[in-house]
Amino acid sequence: MERRDFVSNLSMVLALACAGGLAACSKSSSDAPDPGNGGGGGNNAKLTADLGSELLNTGSFKIGGGVILIRIAAGNTASSFAALSSTCTHQGCTVATFNSSSNLIECNAPCGHGSRYTTTGAVQTGPATNPLTKMTIAISGNTLTVS
Ligand code: FES
Repeated sequence: MERRDFVSNLSMVLALACAGGLAACSKSSSDAPDPGNGGGGGNNAKLTADLGSELLNTGSFKIGGGVILIRIAAGNTASSFAALSSTCTHQGCTVATFNSSSNLIECNAPCGHGSRYTTTGAVQTGPATNPLTKMTIAISGNTLTVS
């Protein structure tokens, strides 16, 4: 093998190795559930949570898949959580946050207009007049699924 052929072959091997490395990196990141569409968990799942690493403390919350999921008590039973539609009933904005100090779900700027909801979904402060829709929670092992 001539030197020119050796260098050419070496370049091709390095290019393939780099491409393989990049593909491996992109695959691992794309394997993660997409919280924006609910994160998997079955055909009807709107949102899932790994209770081994998420929502560990009372007041912690997660928004995704059209759902706001809030830990409202200790323990890993369905009654330890509130799962509600994250679509504000005023004008359809996604609620922005759960305020653990006031225990209220807030629909804030830039889209929202200040409506507040309790963890049961009831309106605490308008302009919204209708409650947030309650969702169904199922827990299997450390996996919580909202549907
Ligand atoms: S859209 Fe939520 S308060 Fe207006």
